[in-house]
Amino acid sequence: MSAWWFPSVPVTLAPATTADAEAMAAIHSASFAHDWSVEDIDGLLAEPLVFGIVARRGTWLGSHRPVGFVLIRAVAGEAEVLTIAVDPRKRGGGIGRQLMRAAIDRLTIDRVGMLFLEVDEGNGPAVTLYRGLGFREVGRRAGYYSQGGRPAASALVMRRDLG
Ligand SMILES: CC(C)(COP(=O)(O)OP(=O)(O)OC[C@H]1O[C@@H](n2cnc3c(N)ncnc32)[C@H](O)[C@@H]1OP(=O)(O)O)[C@@H](O)C(=O)NCCC(=O)NCCS
Repeated sequence: MSAWWFPSVPVTLAPATTADAEAMAAIHSASFAHDWSVEDIDGLLAEPLVFGIVARRGTWLGSHRPVGFVLIRAVAGEAEVLTIAVDPRKRGGGIGRQLMRAAIDRLTIDRVGMLFLEVDEGNGPAVTLYRGLGFREVGRRAGYYSQGGRPAASALVMRRDLG
């Protein structure tokens, strides 16, 4: 396992703003079968209980476009990962792990007790990422993700205790 504090791709992490929504929608579209529009992402960022973190290439502040992002909703001491995605050309360099670590750090400071997520059980990179960060499987939803004509894949529900 790689060490999360020694990333192979230098990125700057920052709170996501509406100025990032277009790049976030493009990364989402390249990552999932279902698109989220710029308006969808703007709407989520406007929700008071939602926050996003973007990763930009480079170690200095500037106008670099995001290469990955995570969106989190926190309600009453519990939070969920709404989505996380990294530009397909930049995957495998530790950006996803850095985004998740930053989200966990912020939630811990905010005294949120648990972080939940749902993931397609066949999504190897994502399941590896979450297990490496201490998430444990707490449920399974059979046939949760539709896959065109093929049998639907199951979702794992995973939880990480914080603090
Ligand atoms: C899941 C995702 C965000 C991971 O981002 P990433 O920047 O590539 O991840 P990292 O480089 O930080 O790697 C994280 C872990 O996953 C592992 N990993 C990365 N790519 C992998 C691959 N293709 N196969 C297996 N494991 C992989 C890494 O080895 C690393 O494991 P470690 O912590 O034990 O070292 C990215 O693959 C992605 O955007 N996928 C499409 C969207 C998606 O599926 N999101 C999750 C929805 S629940």
